[in-house]
Amino acid sequence: MQTTPIKPLKPWFQTIEDVGSSLNWCEFFGNDKQVELDIGCGRGLFLFNAAMLTSQTNFLGLEIDYREGRRTATRLMKQDLPNARVIGGDCRTLLTKMVEPGSVHAAHVYFPDPWWKKRHHKRRLFNDEFVLMLARILQPEGLVHHWTDVADYFEMVQGLMDHCPQFIRCRTPAEREATTDMDYHTSFERKKRKLGLPIYRGLWQRR
Ligand SMILES: C[S@@+](CC[C@H](N)C(=O)[O-])C[C@H]1O[C@@H](n2cnc3c(N)ncnc32)[C@H](O)[C@@H]1O
Repeated sequence: MQTTPIKPLKPWFQTIEDVGSSLNWCEFFGNDKQVELDIGCGRGLFLFNAAMLTSQTNFLGLEIDYREGRRTATRLMKQDLPNARVIGGDCRTLLTKMVEPGSVHAAHVYFPDPWWKKRHHKRRLFNDEFVLMLARILQPEGLVHHWTDVADYFEMVQGLMDHCPQFIRCRTPAEREATTDMDYHTSFERKKRKLGLPIYRGLWQRR
């Protein structure tokens, strides 16, 4: 039986195991620019556009689905982007054990899996522990961006973030006009807005 060979995508795609037990940003990116994380980056539209627009920032996508992560990394590699990478694996392992405290400038969490059924809500990424992980890795004044189309998920996140003393709520980011398919913030934002669904946006700052 023929198998498709896996493309070598290093350094654009690596797994948690490839990286080792800790992440030193200067060693990882080869410079000391500020770092932003795209948690659950999926197809990487945000990661790609942000890295193209902001060369003075390093962007790291975290993606548990290796297939999606590799697809995103292929796009970054084709553009030879020096300031964007993807790590495949569970973001919670990275956030709790591998990222140095206070070393991240911003965390973007866009359209995390909704886990619609009530009995599955406990699987949602945002919970008390996740908020504390964000508080640990962010530098003072660092930002958490969270967007979703799921009203009850957004309410839950607002409750968690607003009650966490390490964060202050900021003004809600405005919706951007989209004239082309590339104008959307993420693939999920595009999909949901095209369906006419409202998008809930939240922004918090680390004290
Ligand atoms: C609904 S998709 C949204 C993707 C992208 N943020 C967007 O807005 O288009 C959620 C993504 O989070 C990823 N994900 C879920 N749990 C994760 C975890 N624990 N660590 C890393 N990625 C995760 C999923 O594999 C999926 O690609």
